Amino acid sequence: MSTLFEELSRVKTFEYTEEDVREFEALHDEIRALKKERNAIIVAHNYYRPEILKIADFVGDSLELALMASKVKDSDVIDFCGVHFMAETAKIVNPSRTVLLPNLLAGCQLADSAPAEDLKARIEELRKDYPDLAVVSYVNTTAAVKALSDIICTSANAPKVVRSLPNKNILFVPDRNLANFVAQQVPEKNIIPWEGFCYVHQQITPQEIQRIREADPEIEILVHPECRPDVARLANAVLSTSGMVKYAKERSASRFLVVTECGLSDRLAMEVPEKQFLKGCKLCTFMKVTTLEDVRDSLRYMRYEIEVPEEIRLPAERALRRMFEVTA
Ligand code: 13P
Ligand code: SF4
Repeated sequence: MSTLFEELSRVKTFEYTEEDVREFEALHDEIRALKKERNAIIVAHNYYRPEILKIADFVGDSLELALMASKVKDSDVIDFCGVHFMAETAKIVNPSRTVLLPNLLAGCQLADSAPAEDLKARIEELRKDYPDLAVVSYVNTTAAVKALSDIICTSANAPKVVRSLPNKNILFVPDRNLANFVAQQVPEKNIIPWEGFCYVHQQITPQEIQRIREADPEIEILVHPECRPDVARLANAVLSTSGMVKYAKERSASRFLVVTECGLSDRLAMEVPEKQFLKGCKLCTFMKVTTLEDVRDSLRYMRYEIEVPEEIRLPAERALRRMFEVTA
């Protein structure tokens, strides 16, 4: 079995010294003791810092994390190592648990690009032309936006969710690139995109991907659907973050270009050392802002607790549960 230092040495985003790793191990011990004292579970998104993934009880993509959070029964506290909308989603589907976000700076620029008030106005305007309009919101939205939505989707199930609706006209919020991907997969629907995008995925250009493919024609290219359509077009597969992990483990190929936030190629480098993962990636500052000290302090001081007012939580929960039904 590899030591923590050997595992973290495979990570390319950060360079860890032996002393860093000794500090991580000491913090891991403190976190384990606090977890027991608080009866807490730690869940983490795939993009989080590797030293945090190593202490998490569960690591996954947005869909897996939402489903997991909805099932937590034996722990009083869900310490959510993700971004704000993910912790909010956990509270929406499991309101009797205490949900903590260790660092309040962990927001999401894409979620912030669709304010609930603007969405409300847009729905009213569009319903004049499209009386059957359904609102499908990506999970990367605030609770208030979810409350205005008919159903939620994630990068793992967006085409399936849209296909499940009887409505022809769909307002898809907030990611225009994911909307474009859905429109291609479900051509029988009229997809009206919200003009939002993720600043991390938007920075990735087809030229940089093409250059790597030309130098290495055998490489398999995995692209997240938040990427631009001209980047998605170059992919062997367009997948959610956990979809990429599964694909890379199952395929016989030995080299992959991982086109998303850099945390994903770091997770793969640690978990699948026999294969090579090239980084066609950018960093998300929101996903990287939380440190292992923040995680320790979240359990030590029980901060920062996520609350969702009941009048927003209930309609948001209905939209999320509709997604769970379609996904099951
Ligand atoms: P996944 O659900 O695919 O993990 O994506 C979450 C996200 O924020 C991508 O930027
Ligand atoms: Fe939000 Fe983009 Fe960061 Fe994902 S990568 S959390 S969509 S800003």
